[in-house]
Amino acid sequence: MNKHETPITLSTVHSDIKHDSGPKHVTGTAEYIDDMVEPAGTMHAYLGLSTNPHAQIVGMDFSATLAAPGVLGVLTAADVPGDNDVSSNHSHDEPLFPVDTVHFWGQPLFAVIAETRDQARRAAHLAKVEYKDLPFATNVRDAQAAGGTLVTPPLKLERGDVAAGMAGAPRRVKGSIEIGGQDHFYLEGHIALAVPGEDEDVTVFSSTQHPTEVQVMVAQVLGIRLHAVTVNVRRMGGGFGGKETQSNLFACVAAMAAKKWNRACKIRPDRDDDMTATGKRHDFVVDYDVGYDDSGKIHAVEAVYGARAGFSSDLSGPVTDRALFHADNAYWYPAVRVRSEPLYTNTVSNTAFRGFGGPQGMMAAERWIEDIAYDLGRDPLEIRKANFYGTDTDNVTPYHQTVQDNIVHRVVEEIEASSDYQARRAAILKYNAGSPILKKGIALTPVKFGISFTATWYNQAGALVHVYKDGSIHLSHGGTEMGQGLYIKVAQVLADAFGVGLGVVKIMGTSTGKVPNTSATAASSGSDLNGMAAFDAARQIKERLVVHAAKLYQCSEAAVEWVPGGIQAADKFVPFAELAASAYMNRVQLSATGFYQVPKIHWDRATGRGHPFYYFAYGASVSEVTIDTLTGEYTVDRVDILHDVGRSLNPAIDMGQIEGGFIQGMGWLTSEELVWDDKGQLRTKAPSTYKIPLASDVPPVFNVKLAEWSVNAEPTIGRSKAVGEPPFMLAMSVVEALSMAVASVADYTIAPRLDTPVTPERVLMGCERLKREARR
Ligand code: MTE
Ligand code: HPA
Repeated sequence: MNKHETPITLSTVHSDIKHDSGPKHVTGTAEYIDDMVEPAGTMHAYLGLSTNPHAQIVGMDFSATLAAPGVLGVLTAADVPGDNDVSSNHSHDEPLFPVDTVHFWGQPLFAVIAETRDQARRAAHLAKVEYKDLPFATNVRDAQAAGGTLVTPPLKLERGDVAAGMAGAPRRVKGSIEIGGQDHFYLEGHIALAVPGEDEDVTVFSSTQHPTEVQVMVAQVLGIRLHAVTVNVRRMGGGFGGKETQSNLFACVAAMAAKKWNRACKIRPDRDDDMTATGKRHDFVVDYDVGYDDSGKIHAVEAVYGARAGFSSDLSGPVTDRALFHADNAYWYPAVRVRSEPLYTNTVSNTAFRGFGGPQGMMAAERWIEDIAYDLGRDPLEIRKANFYGTDTDNVTPYHQTVQDNIVHRVVEEIEASSDYQARRAAILKYNAGSPILKKGIALTPVKFGISFTATWYNQAGALVHVYKDGSIHLSHGGTEMGQGLYIKVAQVLADAFGVGLGVVKIMGTSTGKVPNTSATAASSGSDLNGMAAFDAARQIKERLVVHAAKLYQCSEAAVEWVPGGIQAADKFVPFAELAASAYMNRVQLSATGFYQVPKIHWDRATGRGHPFYYFAYGASVSEVTIDTLTGEYTVDRVDILHDVGRSLNPAIDMGQIEGGFIQGMGWLTSEELVWDDKGQLRTKAPSTYKIPLASDVPPVFNVKLAEWSVNAEPTIGRSKAVGEPPFMLAMSVVEALSMAVASVADYTIAPRLDTPVTPERVLMGCERLKREARR
């Protein structure tokens, strides 16, 4: 048996266990930072935001602010004791507060500290800032026209002879697709509470996916060492990537104030300020040129991926890299050259969001598949199948990694059959022929998503496990809980490893003081990494307990066996609690740190070659829609999903991730639209103007299944696969189904080329355009 396989089966791992916070969520007893009892004398901070998209700061007048009731002071760049920088990746391009230039409307300029939050918020609006306007560009095309300044070096991936591939291709399509961004819309907004301690010490409670990064930023801004800063995260009310780097600023402001006044300080922006001042999913414009033949097989792909990065690099480098890593989705390109353009724009610095650029890369791939299908008059599914990666040949990616675990054929075959795709498509073609106003569409799209951080060093994790002398267990690891069920999954792993019930394991909040140098909980890797680290800690304690038991019960170590509830030492059963108590009395260490690093992976960005992903997660979905060609309104009538999570650690949690991921993806691709006006101001910054999916938008028929036969070919924890991000991209089938419905108005002879989000307005304009073009 592989040393990482779970040895005892209590049916804890691989079974439907409810989320540990579930009952607390529904009874309102789950504690978020804003629910915590505030230390006596807690101050409150509120940010003052720029009202200009690009300008020199001529002056800031705080006289009215400082005279307002309850105000203790104002923090600006001049008050930063250490380094005025909160940029990730050591790029040093994102000040906590700007010194002389603002780069986007909504950029935090200063913070007001007051006795109450309301006082701080009101006083922040009394500041007078004088600007000298500078030229600005808020979108990809304008940024390209203004010279295409990049915030971070671009990536190029290349394989095969593109010129020869294009020259030899009998057919060619060129085009572009605009893919919109997305606000994270976590239910709990950004928040931090900082409590000063002795000497340089400060403890920060932060709603962050990346406690170590917050620790680093607070230390950097305060000019102190990491050991003086402790960051604690019990849970987030959603993160979705929006709390991977964006929590830094809030934590730093709270910590700065806490140390300056030697009182605790809390900061929580209103929703509209949170939406204005924090980064989002990158919008992309992808320009492509694809050569293919009469059978629909692609010969060569060339594409440029322009992304709205915002004013600083943040994670735009790795996000645009991942767009290129998924430029293939599940398709093999004999020759390919793709290049990223992470563009400087006068907008908030865009950041991580579920899928991390992958969804945008895949959406573009599905676009040219569709172009080919409409050109050839074929069902797009046939073109998809014609271009799937092979299993033994035709399986090298644009980044030169060989796909070794390809199961896309089986996943697609099964969903095609179980959703009755062919019969339904035939029925829809017939329906559309007889329905002049309402039109239907159906589409099947695949997903192949690479699992691992492409920043190779991030693929490590630590855990700290204590067994107390009564046999109860404390579990700490570096992962954070944002609703995705990581805590319960790792607790299941630990309970099974020790052969105890889940009730014996206490899940501790995440703390940099317990597990150091953690990676962001991101890239869907939380349970892969932390599950393995916790398992490693358990292994060490168990090894010591076996030596102890063999001595105590006078048998060989080989005769000590782990069984549910304890050990079997020769013919004696010893309950786990009794074993722990006797180990303590015999001075056996009952605590261990566990560690894990992902094997096999490597990546050389300079050459664009390597093996960046440990494995791939697969899935496929079929969506059916009905559009009204007079108004553009539509409904998503039915969705079928088959998704691969390997051997699921917790099918109930995984099903929730798949359903939630799909709906969030559907929101991104259909209704969530970010609009900046001609003054550079984000106008869609509240639920009144920014439309996330509602419970009523869940398709009335929603059949979701796990590919139960799938077992990770790599020895991951329990042979499971990561689930956090991949299902998000299943929503592409909604776009493709809408596209088919629109195409019906021109008898499927013209590719609709809908940009995303495919709002009802876009559907209507698409119908009108196709009708016009068909009449020509
Ligand atoms: N699920 C919930 N409920 N809330 C979240 O914020 N974030 C998603 C996904 N599922 C998220 C979620 C994102 S962006 C990622 S990367 C993964 O969860 C992170 O957790 P994991 O690595 O433990 O899967
Ligand atoms: N998703 C995918 N890859 C990543 C992420 C993420 O959130 N963060 C860093 N690399």
